[in-house]
Amino acid sequence: MYDFKPAPGAAKSALYADLLAAADALTAGERDAVANMANVAALLWDFLPQVNWAGFYRVVDNELVVGPFAGRPACIRIPFGQGVCGVAAQSGATQLVTDVHAFPGHIACDPVSRSELVVPVKREGAVVAVIDIDSPVIARFDAEDAEGIEAVARLLADRIFKS
Ligand code: SME
Repeated sequence: MYDFKPAPGAAKSALYADLLAAADALTAGERDAVANMANVAALLWDFLPQVNWAGFYRVVDNELVVGPFAGRPACIRIPFGQGVCGVAAQSGATQLVTDVHAFPGHIACDPVSRSELVVPVKREGAVVAVIDIDSPVIARFDAEDAEGIEAVARLLADRIFKS
């Protein structure tokens, strides 16, 4: 049984350190990409408060296709450059969106979402996936969240594309 849990009342820095350690422990010995994305999506869901969607979009034939996630059913395919995820994939840069209504072209998979953090996962310089996290709370994410998820993305770069 796995029992990774955030420490109650933990500071954000401790929460992300625990999340990274749990993601490392869950994925280190597994070469199946779907298994690793599924478990990390479950960890994100479990560890991060005030979140209504957490998971992966993968780069497949030059567009994004939804991968393992936790939350409500979501848009399946997102072209590069469209929406927050498509901009992150095209630019290779983390997108920290404090108010999705103010983001031109935001794709509303769930009208409840109000803020969003999207972090590219890069392998040998190329974006191979993005981690997408949505919140029903405006300005839910800050630079510390971005750094925490970027660390998870670096960890996963070699662990979500092995066969
Ligand atoms: N809001 C995203 C689409 C994906 S869903 O939020 C799960 C976007 O604008 O790219």
